[in-house]
Amino acid sequence: MKKLIAILLAVFMIFSLAACGNSASKTEQSSAENTTNDMVSTENNNTGDLEEAKAPDTQSEEAEAPEVQGNRVLVAYFSATNTTEGVAKYIADGLDADLYEIIPKVPYTDADLNYSDNDSRTTIEMNDPDARPEISGSVENMEQYDIVFIGYPIWWGEAPRIVCTFMEGYDFSGKTIVPFCTSGSSGIGSSATNLEKLTSDAKWLDGRRFGGSDSQDTVMEWVNSLDLDLGE
Ligand SMILES: Cc1cc2nc3c(=O)[nH]c(=O)nc-3n(C[C@H](O)[C@H](O)[C@H](O)COP(=O)(O)O)c2cc1C
Repeated sequence: MKKLIAILLAVFMIFSLAACGNSASKTEQSSAENTTNDMVSTENNNTGDLEEAKAPDTQSEEAEAPEVQGNRVLVAYFSATNTTEGVAKYIADGLDADLYEIIPKVPYTDADLNYSDNDSRTTIEMNDPDARPEISGSVENMEQYDIVFIGYPIWWGEAPRIVCTFMEGYDFSGKTIVPFCTSGSSGIGSSATNLEKLTSDAKWLDGRRFGGSDSQDTVMEWVNSLDLDLGE
């Protein structure tokens, strides 16, 4: 009899323990489910919060985003024997502007530059108003510049034809263009107004001629007299 009671007790205990185990694992599962749901809902909430929090940020970023970063002033120049280059560098240095050299795809040799020779390359080019010597490379992000200086040597009273190639190669509308040149003795003459005809909707300022011996002070005195809107 004692044995039977012991067996019955043992069976009862086994059932009770099994029932406890089931309820424990269910609780764990349900608590795990809750946690998962909580996480999902938290994630959802967080996502929602983030989205809500992000939206105004994005808007304010858009509202406050500065326009294209970078210099607003470009000094572009062509120089066959470095005189104009010197003046261009004075201006770029004085205004902390970007500098761009117009480099011919086919470089000019000394023979090409011989203006005493009727058959030299420069004589032939300058005798042909439609000549457009090719340029090697290009200005990156011309859109970013509001003010473009354009410098060149005087060849037969005009800007070299490669400068025409440059002026026709970009959209200068809305920009201020400031021509300057160097020469043996000729003034800027009609060289700048002839270049102006190759652009549209740009504001051309009066240009100025310099000699190779003009100092940076002289050059910057002229630049400062232009009262340019440098956006500072
Ligand atoms: C083909 C050619 C034509 C030139 N024509 C003139 C001119 O008409 N008047 C003038 O004063 N100088 C003239 N020059 C001299 C240049 O304008 C002068 O040396 C200039 O400063 C050179 O600039 P760069 O060193 O930047 O090329 C001419 C030079 C060359 C090569």
